[in-house]
Amino acid sequence: MPKITQSPDGHVFECDAGETILRAALRAGIGMPYSCNTGSCGNCRFQLLDGTVTHLREDAPAWSERELKRGRWLGCQAVPDGACSVKFRSMDQYIPDISPVSVTATLVEVKQITRDISEFTFHADDLPAFHPGQYALLHVSGVTGGRAYSMSNLCDDGTWRFMIKQMPNGEATGALFAAEPGATITIDGPYGTAFLRKDSPRDIVLLAGGSGLSPMVSIAKGAAAAGMLDTRTLHVFYGARETGDLCNAVVLGGQASEKARFIAALSDPDATWTGPKGFLHDVVAEHMAAQLKDCEIYFAGPAVMSAAVQEMAHEAGVPPDQLHFDEFY
Ligand SMILES: Cc1cc2nc3c(=O)[nH]c(=O)nc-3n(C[C@H](O)[C@H](O)[C@H](O)COP(=O)(O)OP(=O)(O)OC[C@H]3O[C@@H](n4cnc5c(N)ncnc54)[C@H](O)[C@@H]3O)c2cc1C
Ligand code: FES
Repeated sequence: MPKITQSPDGHVFECDAGETILRAALRAGIGMPYSCNTGSCGNCRFQLLDGTVTHLREDAPAWSERELKRGRWLGCQAVPDGACSVKFRSMDQYIPDISPVSVTATLVEVKQITRDISEFTFHADDLPAFHPGQYALLHVSGVTGGRAYSMSNLCDDGTWRFMIKQMPNGEATGALFAAEPGATITIDGPYGTAFLRKDSPRDIVLLAGGSGLSPMVSIAKGAAAAGMLDTRTLHVFYGARETGDLCNAVVLGGQASEKARFIAALSDPDATWTGPKGFLHDVVAEHMAAQLKDCEIYFAGPAVMSAAVQEMAHEAGVPPDQLHFDEFY
């Protein structure tokens, strides 16, 4: 097993055969920064000081010839060929309290949620616990590289659910939507730092755009199950394009009440739609106004939405440590 020596903190850890440096670091309890786990964000970049590595994803958007010339690699894609010395700054907020494990799970059920989003239920007795809002890498047979999907449930008895949007001509989603109950898949997780902060006393705002529905549903359920809504209000915003993309409050984690409100907004509605219209970040700014800076905010969705939400939150004076998201690609 290749030994990895990290600087400047002086950590030493071992990689399993075929394992990435990021995964091995997290398993060893080291806070290596990351977000997407699929080669797109660049948060896991490190300097290779000694040794050689093999990159899993040659076309990773966050990696280039220029990076290679500088000796910089992606932790989520680099598998060591032997002993290596690496440089990255470890940060406490990335230390996982549940280590990722790789488990073969069975597809139990597929339930349609919207026109192109379905919830996939997988079961394996040895699937570990996870925090609401975390994600896993699904390794689909015949598809190169794991794809990240966020869990939509609360972990109970080794059952992990994922709300997945079918992508036009998508490699992984094409195979998943064609799968029948009984099919097996490798699930590697949990990952991600955008999970429910149960110790925060603030009201909770959830923003889900399209395929970002899954982790927000899990967080809404987690907040209710932990009794957080006795003393806080939950505001759930779901943004989609057309009427066929809508889902109801029950899917989003519960029934509307004094302590929980659910608002759907459509950016391209037909004439029958009487609810909020426009982009999600504008609708949230309009509904929450000055309240926003006193809330704990979680969001997930496409990259354009992520950038717009971050800007809106900044303008509303939300402190960065009250904003929780993993980059979706
Ligand atoms: C943290 C995170 C959480 C996510 N959660 C959800 C979710 O809950 N629900 C949901 O519907 N989607 C989610 N996504 C998006 C999802 O991971 C996929 O990008 C999407 O399903 C496209 O898959 P596809 O293979 O069908 O599409 P394709 O168009 O065939 O693939 C394109 C995408 O796959 C990824 N990819 C391509 N090749 C590789 C490779 N070799 N290794 C690794 N990745 C590769 C790239 O990110 C690329 O954007 C999430 C993404 C991230 C990063
Ligand atoms: S590129 Fe490695 S975590 Fe995003």
